[in-house]
Amino acid sequence: MSLENKSGNLDESRIRSLREQAAHAAKHAYAPYSHFHVGAALLLEDGHVITGCNVENASYRLTTCAEQAAIARAVVERGAHIRIVAVAVANENATIACQPCGACRQTIAEFAAPTCRIFFPAEHGEPGECTLADLLPASFNAQNLQQAASKES
Ligand code: THU
Repeated sequence: MSLENKSGNLDESRIRSLREQAAHAAKHAYAPYSHFHVGAALLLEDGHVITGCNVENASYRLTTCAEQAAIARAVVERGAHIRIVAVAVANENATIACQPCGACRQTIAEFAAPTCRIFFPAEHGEPGECTLADLLPASFNAQNLQQAASKES
């Protein structure tokens, strides 16, 4: 089955569970500076769900976003071949809209197809949903590097 079909077939209870796991992960966030506690839950092609939370640092730019923490953990636990079919993001202030930041979009794109589904809190606590292609229509990816390499040879 293709990645597209796997994420397209997600039923409502699976999506709700993914959102809940992201919300649970947000409770573990280390965010003493922003006080913005974020959780992410990745659904992998093999059915595993891996979560992460943001981990801030007194040197602010060293902060790790929840999505990036989850992806690093997924690679450690499931291997470098992981493919992400869906991502849920949550924050503890459930009414605050929050989509993955630009850096996280690019990080997700490394391990996901453009059809990867993204679930997030939209305005007024409404559940939001889009695809990775909606968030990052023109990612820089491995193909760009391959093209550069083929021009050199
Ligand atoms: N944050 C995430 O964890 N993921 C995002 O996609 C957006 C921002 C975190 C980083 C920082 O700890 C806090 O939210 C405020 O920017």
